[in-house]
Amino acid sequence: MTEQLEAAVIAAQDAVTKQGDTVRSLKASAKEGKVQKNDVDAAIVKLQELKLDLDAKQKELEKIAGGKSSQSREAFRAVLAGVLERRLFYIPSYKIYNGVAGFYDYGPPGCAIKANITQTWRQHFVLEENMLEVECPAVTPEIVLKASGHVDRFTDFMVKDVKTGECYRADHLLEGTLEKLLEDKKNPLTAEQTKEARDLLSTVGELKEDTLGAALTKYACKAPDTGNDISAPFAFNLMFKTSIGPRGDMVGYLRPETAQGIFVNFKDLLYYNGQRLPFAAAQIGNSYRNEISPRSGLLRVREFTQAEIEHFVNPDDKSHPKFSLVADLEPLLYSRDFQMGDEKKPHPIRLGDAVSKGIIANETLAYFIGRTWLFFKRIGINPQRMRFRQHLLHEMAHYANDCWDGEIETSYGWVECVGLADRSAYDLNAHAKMSKVDLKAHETYPEPRMEEELKIVVASKEVGQAFKKDAKTVTEHLQSMNECDAMELKAKLEAGSGDITTIDGQTFTVTPKMVDIKKELVRKTGRNFTPAVIEPSFGIGRIMYSMFEHAFYTRGEANDAGSDDARGVFRFTPLVAPVKATVFPLLQKAELNEVANKVSTSLTAAGLSNIVDTTGTTVGKRYARTDEIGVPFAITVDYQVQTDNTVTLRERDSMAQVRIPVPEIAGVVKSLVDGVSSWLEVQGKYPAQQAAANSEVA
Ligand code: ATP
Ligand code: GLY
Repeated sequence: MTEQLEAAVIAAQDAVTKQGDTVRSLKASAKEGKVQKNDVDAAIVKLQELKLDLDAKQKELEKIAGGKSSQSREAFRAVLAGVLERRLFYIPSYKIYNGVAGFYDYGPPGCAIKANITQTWRQHFVLEENMLEVECPAVTPEIVLKASGHVDRFTDFMVKDVKTGECYRADHLLEGTLEKLLEDKKNPLTAEQTKEARDLLSTVGELKEDTLGAALTKYACKAPDTGNDISAPFAFNLMFKTSIGPRGDMVGYLRPETAQGIFVNFKDLLYYNGQRLPFAAAQIGNSYRNEISPRSGLLRVREFTQAEIEHFVNPDDKSHPKFSLVADLEPLLYSRDFQMGDEKKPHPIRLGDAVSKGIIANETLAYFIGRTWLFFKRIGINPQRMRFRQHLLHEMAHYANDCWDGEIETSYGWVECVGLADRSAYDLNAHAKMSKVDLKAHETYPEPRMEEELKIVVASKEVGQAFKKDAKTVTEHLQSMNECDAMELKAKLEAGSGDITTIDGQTFTVTPKMVDIKKELVRKTGRNFTPAVIEPSFGIGRIMYSMFEHAFYTRGEANDAGSDDARGVFRFTPLVAPVKATVFPLLQKAELNEVANKVSTSLTAAGLSNIVDTTGTTVGKRYARTDEIGVPFAITVDYQVQTDNTVTLRERDSMAQVRIPVPEIAGVVKSLVDGVSSWLEVQGKYPAQQAAANSEVA
């Protein structure tokens, strides 16, 4: 019953997604006058009906499955994990030595899918947006990460089991305890306790050391593996430290994010881009974090692939020239207000409205939210199970303007897979200060403007006489003051004299005779400024795992003898599928193998990855084997090829088959994989083939 209902919910979700696409394309055509408004309205009414239907089915399913009980989630995950490991999608690294937590090896299907996802990412972002791609080393000298703040602040709070010394992430422990309390049907919390626990749950990640400690005590958190008491929380830096070179005196770290490689190259990239803004740079590469307790498979690992974009803009103009292309998308937005409200639910909001109502801070950030939504959809993430969650005010770094996490729902709950942040000019300012290299861009005004300019004139004679050997230090300090410090000193000088403290900590008393500080109106043709940066940061492993969950289903039945005959299938989109087609000679006969090899060669020549399966086992078993790694199309060479030179083509999810002439097969599969034609169209064009009596039985 649950299985049927789950299938109905998935079908209803697909219908909503398809109708959403139809409405969007009708709206676009209506703008160009190609479609009547009535047609658009009718499509919208249909979409609303489909959404109501989906809502009803979801509610019914929740009732039956006890609100997606943790039991059913774990059962689903166990079946999926079995397939993923058995078919070598990924396996624990160093397994023969018992493995090391937080490290995984990808096997053949995993490697192929990862390559397809990163290639799609490159196509969707780097190529379609003309980004500048870079590749920088993972080993990073300390000064870079000191400037960025990682050496001092890239920490998580940790607690230890007081008896065994086992380490746990303190916020995750508190989260787990709160979730259990809220789910406990036997000892329900009062309404007030529930509200308090839910409010705390939504801010757990942001608690400071003392409040986190107090909450762990209040909710009596214990070490999950032993039930022992835990220590007070303390900060732990997540970077892997190393030394560079044989002398061992140069400290380095494995990068915890790829972003810093882009910031330190900003000046050269700006030059490469003809000194023009805005522009975006991108990098795909591995990052390293010594996570405190890596669990949840690929979701929290110690080495992972990131794909990051740094989009540099003029801080006074964060509009995006292509925003209109995403303005009509309606992703589920979980804004601050929705999170703090009683309902605690995201809602679909048109991105154009989200910007005009100030829910998302600016067009560029909203543009990337829209592009991320499209990317997720392109690789097969279910749009009803992705949302964008806005950071609460206290979650954001002080310099950030607005941040949203692209989250995907999995059996582990909602998982942050992409962080999208408007980081203002923080990173470039930090590196300019540390490296003393100017990391500014220049803007030429359309018309010259009169602007106030700070003028600081130092009287060298007076300063020389007063400070002798320190005169140079004082002069340099005075001349490099920013506007705020200069105006503060000016006010003090007007009152008699003012103290300054130089970079080496010496204090000097300055009088009005020594320096003249004023603002003058000058004619300006342009200005230098530090660009702001908008950063979408993708974790490829998390996205990939979420996609595995969304694509996986079973068909067939568990039989009475208790053995499970249900067969696992991944409904991967052809784009990400690890192999596009398998070719089976029906029997192990030279004449059939020969045709199979010919078909395989034609597929390879068309750029389609394929495997020829010549194992003598039943065709049904061979279908099941390829379904289990998500191969979308299977070609079987049977004896009919000798009479009419045709083979059968089977589509994975419908299991329907058609007969196609050998010379046409590669072209047909290519058009299906590229999305140029649909399976329905292929079925319309070629004669149907009945599946052999036992071919769909494993
Ligand atoms: P979390 O709070 O879950 O630790 P984060 O907020 O630290 O994540 P970011 O620093 O924003 O994550 O990193 C950007 C992206 O990198 C994340 O959205 C995620 O996809 C990925 N990522 C971060 N840490 C890990 C990890 N330990 N394992 C796998 N992917 C990760
Ligand atoms: N660059 C964002 C992150 O990895 O934290």
